[in-house]
Amino acid sequence: MKGIILAGGSATRLRPLTKITSKQLLPVYNKPMIYYPINTLVTAGIKDVLIIIAPEYAGHFLNLLGSGKEFGCKFTYEIQEKPRGLADAFIVGENFIAGDNVALILGDNIFDENFKDDLASFKSGGLIFLKEVPDPQRLGVVEIDAHGKVLSIEEKPEKPKSNLASVGLYVFDNRVSEIAKNLAPSARGEIEMTSYLGSPAINNAYFEMGELRAKVIQGAWEDAGTFDSLLRANTYWAKKHQS
Ligand code: G1P
Repeated sequence: MKGIILAGGSATRLRPLTKITSKQLLPVYNKPMIYYPINTLVTAGIKDVLIIIAPEYAGHFLNLLGSGKEFGCKFTYEIQEKPRGLADAFIVGENFIAGDNVALILGDNIFDENFKDDLASFKSGGLIFLKEVPDPQRLGVVEIDAHGKVLSIEEKPEKPKSNLASVGLYVFDNRVSEIAKNLAPSARGEIEMTSYLGSPAINNAYFEMGELRAKVIQGAWEDAGTFDSLLRANTYWAKKHQS
């Protein structure tokens, strides 16, 4: 399986922190943020990783991360000229994926969880991960039945049907790039992972084919894209280091 880290975007929510560098290079305790998603992929057994970056700070990423040797893997880089939505990762990454299965992790998603078994047993379709959160309306929300079967999945709903958020790690088979290329943008102008106000989306496409599975994770998770969540991530990893 291949891995993609999406570390593009302009992170306007974190200005002025992101005025002179990229969000994914900001510190989370003792490391740049992007070390965490790299580590999540590496500990899950992925060695071939595409890092998608914005043009502005591309050089910073190369200086910091290099070939990937230090992490025990091989890094490839692609520039995303404009942030067109999360699903664009599968279009930018199409040649890299080259018919394999692929795990996409968002560059600001910080996990304390090992996905090795989930990725090793993945065969086909789509696999997403869920975490119970207090504020689902700011995330992708998934409703499941008692057997873990997905019943609905929607992006930033005003009235969430559950408090299970879809976290920023997604695993798909090689149909994903073709699905991404056929998506029309949503009302907010993005090609979506999860349907926003009824838009088409990757997860929903696999759901409609009856091939989307979801697993609730037990470990800690933070989307470090806001001042408060960035602070929480820093505090979590500082405490973990000191204990
Ligand atoms: C994105 C996804 C959302 C997901 C979240 C996880 O939201 O659109 O479905 O729950 O990542 O971090 P964003 O951070 O772009 O608002």
